[in-house]
Amino acid sequence: MKKLEKLYEGKAKILYETDDSDLLIQYFKDEATAFDGKKRGLIENKGILNNRMSSRLFECLEENGIETHFVGHISDREMAVKRLEIIPVEVVARNVVAGSLAKRMGMEEGVPLKKPVLELYYKSDELGDPMINEYHIDAFGLARRDEVETMKEKALLINKFLVDFFEKRGIVLVDFKLEFGRHKGKVLLGDEITPDGCRLWNKITGEKMDKDRFRRDLGKVEESYQEVCSRVLS
Ligand code: TMP
Ligand code: ASP
Repeated sequence: MKKLEKLYEGKAKILYETDDSDLLIQYFKDEATAFDGKKRGLIENKGILNNRMSSRLFECLEENGIETHFVGHISDREMAVKRLEIIPVEVVARNVVAGSLAKRMGMEEGVPLKKPVLELYYKSDELGDPMINEYHIDAFGLARRDEVETMKEKALLINKFLVDFFEKRGIVLVDFKLEFGRHKGKVLLGDEITPDGCRLWNKITGEKMDKDRFRRDLGKVEESYQEVCSRVLS
């Protein structure tokens, strides 16, 4: 597979065309942003660690019958992925109250939820990814009903799998964000699964091990990504 021109550059990744029209190369950068790009920085080696973690997690999901865009880990910062038509709806799954849910509900972070909560957001950097519901998705034609059902079902299955995966490695999966896309008539999981888009807390100490360390200036950012990576690969 030959790497061709850049197709799209996002805040943390770049997509390249390849000589196979069905496949793209997803390149992971060290750049980190938060608060819709208002805070910017570098997390040394994040691209390498995120590529490794995401590759492993996508492989595990595939082994468990959940189809993703992942095709293979091809270098330190690159994975081959299926070309998706990204659905502009982000799905957040939550197991414990944190972040914007804590604010919205006026609660302390750390309260376990009685059952997982799914939330839908309109993928738009300019608008700061506003929360939407299924009426908005229908009315604005963002996705078909059956696609929304598939995304919700898959998000719950992925959540179940990941909660157990991280639990075995001494990590609480608090919440995370997923993106899906269309490929040859199917809805596949796209993007990445990394500490950039998940809240991961040390089960014993409660310490944050994810991008909140960068967002909230808690220090030991690289070390935490490294620690999550070695546990994910173990
Ligand atoms: P929130 O509590 O800020 O709504 O975030 C919920 C989860 O979604 C958290 O794990 C971080 C992730 N997330 C992203 O990956 N990208 C985003 O733009 C936002 C706002 C959250
Ligand atoms: N990824 C988003 C941004 O870069 C939000 C976040 O992760 O906090 O602004």
